[in-house]
Amino acid sequence: MNTLLSVLLCVSLLNSQDQDYYPPSPVPDRIMLNLTESPATSMAVTWRTAVYVNEGYVQYTKASPSPDLLENAQVATAKKTSYLSDRNGANYFSAVLGELEPETLYAYRVGDSTSHWSEWAQFKTAAAGEAPLSFIYFGDAQNDLKSMWSRTIRGAYQEMPKANFMLHAGDLVNRRNRDHEWGEWYYAGGWIYRMMPSIATPGNHEYGRDEEGNYSLSKHWKPTFTLPENGPEGFAETVYFIDYQDTRLISFDAPAFYRSPKDSTIQVNWLREVLKNNDNKWTILTTHYPIYSTKNGRDNDELRNGIQSLLEEYKVDLVLTGHDHAYGRGTNLPIGKGKRATVDGPIYVVSVSGPKMYDVGMDDWMQRGASNTQLYQLVHVDGDLLRFEAYTCLLYTSPSPRDRG
Ligand SMILES: [Fe+2]
Repeated sequence: MNTLLSVLLCVSLLNSQDQDYYPPSPVPDRIMLNLTESPATSMAVTWRTAVYVNEGYVQYTKASPSPDLLENAQVATAKKTSYLSDRNGANYFSAVLGELEPETLYAYRVGDSTSHWSEWAQFKTAAAGEAPLSFIYFGDAQNDLKSMWSRTIRGAYQEMPKANFMLHAGDLVNRRNRDHEWGEWYYAGGWIYRMMPSIATPGNHEYGRDEEGNYSLSKHWKPTFTLPENGPEGFAETVYFIDYQDTRLISFDAPAFYRSPKDSTIQVNWLREVLKNNDNKWTILTTHYPIYSTKNGRDNDELRNGIQSLLEEYKVDLVLTGHDHAYGRGTNLPIGKGKRATVDGPIYVVSVSGPKMYDVGMDDWMQRGASNTQLYQLVHVDGDLLRFEAYTCLLYTSPSPRDRG
């Protein structure tokens, strides 16, 4: 390659790395619904605008087939957070819509007080008591979010467009503070995030050393999401629980567990209380690191030793994790070793939704496994039955039981 050509190539590569492909504008984008700790009567909504948009409002009303939504709309004022990323400055707005009616469809839009409004989108609140529930669970998205993860989230939506929410089990992006990657994450999910609420637990790729050398959460996490703050002090929006109908959902911050002995003690003590004081029929915990891994050499024995006895004592039903970039499902070792299908104790799942893949070891605990496969999972709760279905990211015209695991 001659010198001029390689100089030109370097310049064009530099330019593309510096380019802001996902700049904020006056029109709201990155619109995100999140479950609150009271999902039957409230809903959180977060969005982004250019820095010169100083006000944010949500107009919302019970949904109706009539287009006259604005006539009956209530207005909520959003809280503004200014944020300077590695690519741009932006304002993020966050509001919790309260006093909603259970099991009711609402329409809403977000914007400023001028003409910069989003489209009207719709969401449904949870039922006040026991009712059927379905949600979508994703393992690590992390890499090639626009190019490759998009087909997983869109396939999941196509399969279960009326799921009550999505659960992201950590490593949503690869480099936590790169706005470009968050831009791709929003590109992939697009308007699905505006219709179906999300909850998320952070992975190790949402953590890293900051300028002061502290192991800290992605700067994007709190501006981008409006998640519950009912965890221990200092763990807002990463450690929390939500009672959705008759299911308790718990986010346990696995990277923070490893941050220091003090942080692990605080979180484990909190988990014990949340599991002990729990009247729900079903309990589902998500945490990024697997309790059992899909390959030897990736064992998280400190985490397992720290919380497994609690998961068993308080009969957690399902533990949804990521991190290993493979698929594995099984029960605890004493039962899993014999590969019997007896369900006694939590069912542990490791999954991956993005394209980064590691080998799978088919260890003793695993009753199902897959490698080199992008997946999503559907979890259905209906009375005394919990149904768990794993799908590859292929788009189905009619679901085939052979593709479930
Ligand atoms: Fe990962």
